[in-house]
Amino acid sequence: MLRVNQAGEYGAVRIYLGQMAALQNNPKALKTLEHMLEQEKEHLEAFNKLIIDYDVPPTLLTPLWHVGGYLMGVTSALLGEKAAHACTIAVEEVIEEHYQSQVDALSASTHPRDVQFKALFQKCQQEESEHKHIAIDQGGESAPFYPILTNLIKNATRLAIFLSKKG
Ligand SMILES: [Fe+2]
Ligand SMILES: [Fe+2]
Repeated sequence: MLRVNQAGEYGAVRIYLGQMAALQNNPKALKTLEHMLEQEKEHLEAFNKLIIDYDVPPTLLTPLWHVGGYLMGVTSALLGEKAAHACTIAVEEVIEEHYQSQVDALSASTHPRDVQFKALFQKCQQEESEHKHIAIDQGGESAPFYPILTNLIKNATRLAIFLSKKG
């Protein structure tokens, strides 16, 4: 759980950085993205610390998420501000489900470690959900090719989760 979450939050930071690079001349979009980036950095920091505490090696695919996340961010944002937000809607929808499955898996446990993890997963989930709603408010759903775009991104996100679980 810690490995896949650390990988995901790493990817999230890279996506927003890519979007900000592509939208650097759009102050309104930058302000929104900056807020989401800051929260992703906090999530990443929490998991960076936990993988050290629990001696979990990070996924070997980190270099792939470094490049892949950034490319997904740049590419979506080059299609326009709305497409950038469509990307966030798609990613966060998958991540919300992902965190929910982890919270469900831990729900019966009263082990202090699991209680701590559950609280962190729920905090991240809530902020990812907030990002999704911000992206909807910013018109992400009216991006061109919204259904195709979000389907592609959801599949890429699911694949990244699957691969990061493997190693
Ligand atoms: Fe996050
Ligand atoms: Fe996010």
